[in-house]
Amino acid sequence: MNPPPMRQPQFVQLYREDRAVVHAELAAGLLAPQAGLAPKYLYDPLGSRLFDAITELPEYYPTRTEAALLAAHGAAIAAQLPQGATLVDLGAGNCEKAAGLFDLLKPARYVAVDISVEFLRTALQCLQRRFPALDMLGVGLDFSSELTLPPEVGAGPRLLFYPGSSIGNFTPQQALGFLRQVRAVTQGGGLLIGVDLVKPLDILEPAYDDALGVTAAFNKNLLLHVNSLLGSDFRVQDWQHLAFFNTEQSRIEMHLQALRDLVVRWPGAERRFKAGERIHTENSYKYQAANFEALLREAGFSQTRVWTDALGWFAVFWAQA
Ligand code: AVJ
Repeated sequence: MNPPPMRQPQFVQLYREDRAVVHAELAAGLLAPQAGLAPKYLYDPLGSRLFDAITELPEYYPTRTEAALLAAHGAAIAAQLPQGATLVDLGAGNCEKAAGLFDLLKPARYVAVDISVEFLRTALQCLQRRFPALDMLGVGLDFSSELTLPPEVGAGPRLLFYPGSSIGNFTPQQALGFLRQVRAVTQGGGLLIGVDLVKPLDILEPAYDDALGVTAAFNKNLLLHVNSLLGSDFRVQDWQHLAFFNTEQSRIEMHLQALRDLVVRWPGAERRFKAGERIHTENSYKYQAANFEALLREAGFSQTRVWTDALGWFAVFWAQA
């Protein structure tokens, strides 16, 4: 007997990076009185590898705490979720987190969404060999501004998966808008989401300022990425990594601080920085579990379930549309 023919993943590209738009966005951020750069620019090829390294650091608890939660409560989580749904993985990257759920959730279809469809191509082709019968689709989409899924995703309930506390990059107001858009595309399914929680400062801050300096390298690499996108002349050695918890806003803030008076030039403009002046590069909001649950309700989800670790460091929520 011949083996069943292996399926081939399909791909749709909805996002085209427009150089002029990127240039304008970066320049506007650098010229603002309080300079800032969007955290999505942290993820060039080197930045993505540095982030993977961050997830292995002893200080960076979110990734392993979430993985332990999914492993410990997998069966209970799966019992809440629709079986045979379309699993839509937001920010899929290497697709490994979602792949770990296939046996439990038995999705009818797997849809990996990421900004770079090229990155998804390799990951999905590799995954298709491990799961030859699963229908797979890769979607290249920047869902940070707007979440609309292409018709190729198909009919039937959708289980959206948004792990890693990536929701923390949005302000709570933006998160509410995003959660409403998520609910609107679930077709009666729901959302499985990882959320990082408020915890003591001596745990929070080292997670974003580790002893090996990997997070510092990740943050400073943003300058190299901006140099290549904008043609600017940032020198990494002129900048210091800063990360601290802003208690009023309940967020970790990452900044790059100028170590001396300097000028950054790029085609068409320049920006002077005084020693000590900062570029704001990322916010990572931390929630109280009850507050995040209230946000899910406000976004229109009808039922929620939450699983947290014994120390209350991280939460995984199931929200039924
Ligand atoms: C990928 C946004 C979840 O906020 O913890 C890690 C990014 N920045 N270390 C986070 C990040 C610095 C990460 N998220």
